[in-house]
Amino acid sequence: MRSLNSILELSVVELDGLIATARDIIAHPENYWDKCAHRKLATLFFEPSTRTRLSFEAAMLELGGSVIGFSEASSSSAAKGESVADTARMVSCYADIIAMRHPREGAPYVASRAATVPVINAGDGGHNHPTQTLADLLTISREMGRLDNLTIGLCGDLKYGRTVHSLIEAMSRYKGIRFVLISPQELRIPGFIRYNVFENQGIPYTEVSSLEEAMPELDVLYMTRIQRERFDDPWEYERLKDSYVLDTEKMKLAKEKMCVLHPLPRVNEISVGVDNDPRAAYFRQALNGKYMRMALILMLLEEARQDPEKEAIDTEGLEYDRVCRNPKCISQVEQELPQLFRCTDRAADIHRCIYCEQRA
Ligand code: NCD
Repeated sequence: MRSLNSILELSVVELDGLIATARDIIAHPENYWDKCAHRKLATLFFEPSTRTRLSFEAAMLELGGSVIGFSEASSSSAAKGESVADTARMVSCYADIIAMRHPREGAPYVASRAATVPVINAGDGGHNHPTQTLADLLTISREMGRLDNLTIGLCGDLKYGRTVHSLIEAMSRYKGIRFVLISPQELRIPGFIRYNVFENQGIPYTEVSSLEEAMPELDVLYMTRIQRERFDDPWEYERLKDSYVLDTEKMKLAKEKMCVLHPLPRVNEISVGVDNDPRAAYFRQALNGKYMRMALILMLLEEARQDPEKEAIDTEGLEYDRVCRNPKCISQVEQELPQLFRCTDRAADIHRCIYCEQRA
């Protein structure tokens, strides 16, 4: 049995397999109508969501299954002080699979260690969002006809934008990918992506601040919202919130064959005038998310049926004698959770928290 915490837990072969299943669901939905009959998905959303929660629910319903759950922490026992681990363990008694969104980084991972059913990370703080990446991959594949040899521009809040982190991790494993990172200085990509992906793997990237200058070379433009809820200082958000606005004038600088993605919700960063441009793929991307979540639910439930045993933790290089300094990490609040670090670079003496991946 496997959970999904990070997109890196899926190999490229598995990603391609999920895309193939999603395409088959699109072509023959009737073949999938009762694949999950009598199975239940629990959606545990401790943070607001429209698309992710509804697309998980629609995915399970279209597979013939049912859905239970809650959409805000205040209506769950978290409001009484229940730990994430206890919630996950208890919900495993009622559901066959769990999708969890949480403001604390690493919370779904903690849930997956305690649950006896697969747990899917539906977004953890500013860390990861692997199922949005599944939607992004199917969209790029359908819009561009390929997932390799692409120049991908990521624009906006690259620091707190969890969808950006998971998308970079996924795309860096395809051939001929180059990234153009477009952001204000204050919202540049965090260390766990910068070192793990770009520097360690030698993936080509440039960091710029002008969207106009980057535009002509891009095959994919991934716009993001400035993540107001993750800022400690509200004035910093006010100063940065309108850093980038994609409008019809800027679209004139783009290649004829390119696509614009956005995980949504948008605030100001794409003007509605762009919506009618055939290159605007963000609403199609939301639909693709449902098909990929269907494919993922099918895969994880089938794996759990064949092998109900949980994967053992890889203890190689684990260390206990440090303290995580990330105030948003689940290890700061979860009852009796051991502080655990993995050495990711011996030579440079880099240790990362196993929950949030921040450096000790
Ligand atoms: C994203 C998220 O929650 O991180 N939304 C989504 O899941 N589609 C992006 C965002 O909130 O800006």
